[in-house]
Amino acid sequence: MGKILAINGSPRKGGNTERMLNEVLSAAAGAGHETELYQAGGRAVRGCLACGSCETNLGRCATDDWVNELYPKMKAADALVIGSPTYCADLTPEIKAILDRCCFLAMNEGRSLSRKIGAGVSAVRRAGSIHAIDSINHFFLVNDMVVPGSVYWAMSVALEPGDYSGDGEGVETMRRLGENIAWLLEKLK
Ligand SMILES: Cc1cc2nc3c(=O)[nH]c(=O)nc-3n(C[C@H](O)[C@H](O)[C@H](O)COP(=O)(O)O)c2cc1C
Repeated sequence: MGKILAINGSPRKGGNTERMLNEVLSAAAGAGHETELYQAGGRAVRGCLACGSCETNLGRCATDDWVNELYPKMKAADALVIGSPTYCADLTPEIKAILDRCCFLAMNEGRSLSRKIGAGVSAVRRAGSIHAIDSINHFFLVNDMVVPGSVYWAMSVALEPGDYSGDGEGVETMRRLGENIAWLLEKLK
């Protein structure tokens, strides 16, 4: 069975992004896969310093914070589900920092994320989620990863924490995404 790691980029614990990620995970867990939710949103983080130290100090970022704890978990997983609320039609800075830093860590370490599954999801009040999801997918697609679809783009129309549950199409999209990740894990085994 595979390991699925979800990363919550919202600073609001119990918010819509976390609920969406849990929906994806529980659909995949139903097929017997191991799941973990990692809280990234709200934690202090720095962007990539462009220092190049990960070219020689393989697998370690010079900024020795929680991203150095998260990256080995990403390598150990078979599938990554990265969630960000839509902020100003894009990602939260915590998710952007993870993507920039782990992109270079992975590429310099022999493309360590190759052929893992990657899915991005975003909660949004009204507009901008497609761009946020695209930003996450760019990370997967440049890291030689496999990106599954669902029955709609992986978003949920939600403002206040819990609004996600009232967006039936969003709930169905998350469930199907989890099922598709589980299905793909079986196929890639
Ligand atoms: C700083 C900030 C920027 C936001 N920008 C957008 C936006 O560009 N478009 C939009 O529709 N909603 C925007 N929102 C609303 C959130 O995307 C929405 O409340 C979402 O459900 C939050 O997810 P969460 O509960 O996981 O934190 C923004 C919210 C904040 C706090």
